[in-house]
Order: sequence, then structure tokens, then C-alpha cells
Amino acid sequence: MSGLAQIGIRFASAGKGLSDETLKKIDTAIARYPVKQSALLPALWLAQKEQGFVSLEAQTQIAEKLGVSAAFVAGVVTFYTMYHTEPVGRHVIDVCTTVSCWLRGSDGLVGHLESKLGIRVGETTPDKRFTLRSVECLGSCGTAPMCQINDDYHEDLTFEKIDRILDGMK
Ligand code: FES
Repeated sequence: MSGLAQIGIRFASAGKGLSDETLKKIDTAIARYPVKQSALLPALWLAQKEQGFVSLEAQTQIAEKLGVSAAFVAGVVTFYTMYHTEPVGRHVIDVCTTVSCWLRGSDGLVGHLESKLGIRVGETTPDKRFTLRSVECLGSCGTAPMCQINDDYHEDLTFEKIDRILDGMK
């Protein structure tokens, strides 16, 4: 993708700002900490809960509320894979591909999902139903291979098991 196209996506992802309701919730979160900056992670969760991702506009609003730079917020958002900076599908499938899962076949699982969904890692299905990602260890190595879909872990996966799980999701 060209640099200009990437810039276009970034502007497109700016979206609109956070609702008054979410901004109030962020104020409540800030009040719980002795230092405003400590409320950054919960503030980002609240933003993502409303928007499905954390838009540039939301990042700027949060930075202003916490008294930090937008670059600082951007650094945190992009550090943690659970925050999205672009719109994602209704179900985000994070397949762990670190050592234990890799030894237990995560590469094959990723290939199976790419084939089943018709997308590559990092992409979203055209109907916006699924986003497929490859992530580092999710701390469930004893039940490898595994993935996280939205807030839930799915473990000891086989092709049949992941097919059943996805087929049950709208
Ligand atoms: Fe996959 Fe730890 S290596 S959960």
C-alpha cells in the first residue's frame, strides 16, 4: 500500500469523537487514581467499547483529559495488541503463534482460518464479521493451540473445533 493510501486510511479512521456519556465515564475513571495518567488504559477500553476501535479523535480527547501528549497515547494504543486503531470485524480472532502453540500446529490453524474466511492475517471479511490476527503468547500455553475471540479464550483447538465455534457466531 502506498504512503498516500496509508495516510488516507489514517484520516478515515479518525472518525468522530467520543460521546458525552463515554467522556463522563472517563472522568469517573480518572477520579479513581491519584495521577490522571494512570487512567489511560481504562480510558482506552471505554473508547474502544463505544467505537469498536480507538480513533485518532478519541486518542486526542483522551490525551487532553489526561494531560499527556497525543503521541504518548498513540504509543500506548499501538503497544497493546488488544487495542484497535482501525475498524475491525464484529469478532476479532487472535490466534497465538508463539512457541507452544506453534509446536502444536498454530501455523496450520492460521492457514485453515485464512482458507475458511477467505482473508489473510490482518484482514477483515467483506461482511465485517471476522478479523483474523496472529498474536504473541496469550498465557494459555498448556492448552495450545489456542486463540482469543473477542473476550473469550478457545483452547485445545482442532480444525473441527474452530469451525464449530465460528459457525455459531453471527
Ligand atoms: Fe500460545 Fe502461550 S504459546 S498461549
